[in-house]
Order: sequence, then structure tokens, then C-alpha cells
Amino acid sequence: MLSGKNVLLAITGSIAAYKSAYLVRGFIKSGANVKVIVTESALQFVTKVTLSTLSKNPVYKDFLKDEHTGEWNNHVELGSWSDIMVIAPATANTLSNLVTGKANSFFLATFLSCNSPVFVAPAMDLDMFQNKSTKHNLDILSKRGVKIIDPGSGELASGLDGKGRMEEPEQIVDVINQYFLDQATLKNINILISAGPTYESIDPVRFIGNYSSGKMGFALAKEAENRGACVELISGPVSLKTPKNVKRTNIRSALEMKKEIEDRFSTTDVLIMSAAVADFQPTESAINKIKKAEAKMSITLKKTPDILKDLAKKKKKQIVIGFALETESEKKNAYQKMKQKNLDAIVLNSLKDKGAGFGYNTNKVTIITPLEEMNYELKTKDLVAKDILNFIEKCILD
Ligand SMILES: Cc1cc2nc3c(=O)[nH]c(=O)nc-3n(C[C@H](O)[C@H](O)[C@H](O)COP(=O)(O)O)c2cc1C
Repeated sequence: MLSGKNVLLAITGSIAAYKSAYLVRGFIKSGANVKVIVTESALQFVTKVTLSTLSKNPVYKDFLKDEHTGEWNNHVELGSWSDIMVIAPATANTLSNLVTGKANSFFLATFLSCNSPVFVAPAMDLDMFQNKSTKHNLDILSKRGVKIIDPGSGELASGLDGKGRMEEPEQIVDVINQYFLDQATLKNINILISAGPTYESIDPVRFIGNYSSGKMGFALAKEAENRGACVELISGPVSLKTPKNVKRTNIRSALEMKKEIEDRFSTTDVLIMSAAVADFQPTESAINKIKKAEAKMSITLKKTPDILKDLAKKKKKQIVIGFALETESEKKNAYQKMKQKNLDAIVLNSLKDKGAGFGYNTNKVTIITPLEEMNYELKTKDLVAKDILNFIEKCILD
């Protein structure tokens, strides 16, 4: 389950930090991509060279990357890169910082901006672990959703015997692996997602397109893959990185999109049409570039085929979800579209909502089914994707 997953490992200043080198090895051996952050104190116990060699990536410590150019490390980007953050070993000091929300180091700022699940593996002396402050901090973190990998008992670096030893690296890798196994709620489910715009050719250099960035569809593909689904993405022209383990096919026009979707529909369990497929295309596409002098000043258009409507006739077991981007009478239009196209649900976003729709990293959606309507707040497209996949999971289980 760890294959292709992005593991962000934070190492803090405990004597157990030497074991983190084995932890990096363990994650890498399981096929994960690993990036390491260290605190200042951690470097007293383990070196950046060891960790960067094992992880095959630069090690992060400071905000500033290059003091001559002012280039800096982006804590927000690193947080969103991660599928999981593991803080091992976690010192008593770090636990306290995590609770108070301090952000005066690159590590703490990354923790605060990380939306992925976080695991901490405390490591400290017996008395530090038993101290009421430590217990209280662990309790608060646990209530906030941080997962605690309980330390083991045995001989401690101080010479005392008791609870406080960081869990062994192999066990930590097993815990994370098990976590991803438990998350694989969509295992063996085939999900087909369309994303981005389509370009309808006027001549070899010009087209009719739209502003879709593809971000919503790509976020959906990433989230579905995280849940263990087998994901295929049919993408219009966008400049986005393919999420890991997702099979991507690029298309340009609505007709190409139709072909790719239809070819796969019979083996699909869930189809999510988040692409902004053109409704019209030029009646003719010129073979050569239309010269300024020769140009007629009008382009005749014809309707493109309605992919969803055509598929609705072939629909058997599939769950089919459409998207509606509206600018007026939003709900009325979305209900109509859902009915006409025989959809199981439609995700409505309105260009009237600030921060929603094309290009933004955020979106505000309403999921509409023939039976219910679910309104969500404005959130990042990654979090919107989680809401949509939660809904799909519910449909599959029902
Ligand atoms: C040799 C040595 C070993 C230490 N081991 C631990 C430890 O296992 N757990 C712990 O909580 N603190 C330990 N400390 C104290 C931390 O290094 C110290 O609290 C530091 O400020 C932690 O910073 P950080 O949480 O930012 O990494 C140790 C200190 C020394 C000098």
C-alpha cells in the first residue's frame, strides 16, 4: 500500500533520531517517496547527508534555501505534497509545540499547513513520558486527530527501564502501511474521471476553448487513488502533473473525449464528468491557417455530441456523476441537467460564488441527487474532492 505514496518524515531532537535512518530505508523499500524535515536539535543526532542519501531528496530544515538569492522552501507546498506526515521521533518539546500551534520553524509551519493525516512516534525518557504535561499534550493531539504510535517499554538511553522508547522503525512502517490498507475503501472499484477543457479547432492554429484548469478533476483522481480505486483520467489540454498510479489519456476535442469515455464505460463502476466539454464546435475546421485577408468574419457552429446523455442510455450498474457550472438559475438548471441526462448526482458550482469555479484552487459546491441536496462551504479543491468521494463511497455501500 505504500507504493508511490508521498511520506513526509519529520525528525526531532531525540537520541532515537539515529533510528530514523532505518525508518527512511523502510519507507523507501516499500516503494514510498520520502522527504525529510529535521529540527535544529535533530542534527545533533543524525546528519543531513545520511538522510538525503537514503531518501534520495534534499533534507529541509530552514525557510531560507539560498541566502544569496532569497530563495525559500515552501512549507505549504511540502505539506500538500505529502500523503502522510510522520513525526518520528517526536520529542516532548515538539509535542508541546504541536499543541500550542507554534510556527517559528520550517517543521512547525509545515505541520500546521499539512492537510494529510499526521502520525507521531514519541521518544523520551520514562519520566518525561509519564509527566502530566506530556500526557496532556498527547491527549490533546489525539483529540485533534493526530495518530499516536505508542512508544515501547525497555531499556532507555538514560539507563532507566520503562516506557518511552520510540517504536521500532519496522513497526512504524507496518502501522503506516496498515493505515493505507484501512483507507483503501474503494479497492477494486474502477473510476473514470474527465477533466479540463476541450479545444474545438477553427484551423491548425486557432481553437474555441474555455477557462477550465482541470484542477478539480485532478484532485478527484488523486483522492480516488488514495482510497485504493483504480483510476483513469481523460484529460483535456492542461498543464497539471498526473497524480501517482493514475492512468492518464490526453485528448483535445469533445469528440475525442467522447470516444475515450465510451471505450471505457462498460468496465467503469463510477464515471465523474468534471471536464468542461465544449457545447459547440465550428462546422468546419480549415486545413490551412485562415489568412487575415481571406477571413469571413463569422464562424458557423454546430452542437457537439452530449457525452453524458448518450451514455445514460447504455448505463447499467454505473454510478454517473456530472458537473454543472452555472451563472444564473443555478439549482434549477442543475436539476434539469441531472434529470435530462439520467445522472445519479450532479455537482453544482456557481461562478457567482467568490473563489469557486475555473482556475481557483478552491471551490464551493452543492451535491444534488434526485433525493437530497448537500451544500458545502468554500474549501480547497483537495477537500472538495474528499466530500465528493465520501458521497460516492456512501452510494457504493448503499
Ligand atoms: C543526548 C540528548 C538526548 C535527548 N533525547 C531526548 C529524547 O529522547 N526525547 C526528548 O523529548 N528530548 C530529548 N532531548 C532533549 C531535546 O533534544 C530538547 O528538548 C530539544 O529542545 C528538542 O528540540 P526539538 O523538539 O525541536 O527537536 C535530548 C537531549 C540530549 C542532549
